[in-house]
Amino acid sequence: TLYLLLTAVLSYLLGAIPFGLVITRAMGLGDLRKIGSGNIGATNVLRTGSKGAALATLLLDAGKGGIAVLIARALLAEDAAQLAGLMAFLGHLFPVWLGFRGGKGVATFLGTLLALAWPVGLAACATWLVAAALLRISSAAALVSAASSAGWVFWFGEGRLLILAVVLTILVYIRHAGNLRRIKAGTEPRIGQKKA
Ligand code: G3P
Repeated sequence: TLYLLLTAVLSYLLGAIPFGLVITRAMGLGDLRKIGSGNIGATNVLRTGSKGAALATLLLDAGKGGIAVLIARALLAEDAAQLAGLMAFLGHLFPVWLGFRGGKGVATFLGTLLALAWPVGLAACATWLVAAALLRISSAAALVSAASSAGWVFWFGEGRLLILAVVLTILVYIRHAGNLRRIKAGTEPRIGQKKA
């Protein structure tokens, strides 16, 4: 329907807002693209040295996935909510404003899951936190958390989310190809470390 299409487009546009870039620019923290990994996500914003900017980026990048889901659910239905989450996620990865060169999707992935099924989202966030505490590497924690999401979907009896969880996980892995290479080579920086 027309509403579904409209929801998809608006969710994409919401997801395409690169909060990391917006915030670091507004705060005069330098060119995020030339810092650390060059990524627009919260992990790289932390490399500017501003924990507040990193936290704001994390919350807003997660929030845009969550808000897209909640709006679509309120106005339409559960299928539309999943589509909205997917489109916000794709917007973050491929933003039209940045020549389609966006982020890696971890925060938006978590925010989307939280809004679709909060136990699943909470478990994926907890998985990220535990993995990060053990490994001290943000990308590695993201890869563990993403991989766990399909398992949590089953654990909490949310099988309806399986395809979405798998698709998002695959995209997260594809976006972390460089990180995976650095993890294998032992050169991936620890959380808060400046270089990448
Ligand atoms: O969420 C992105 C994170 O997993 C990796 O970021 O900047 O270390 O490539 P970065």
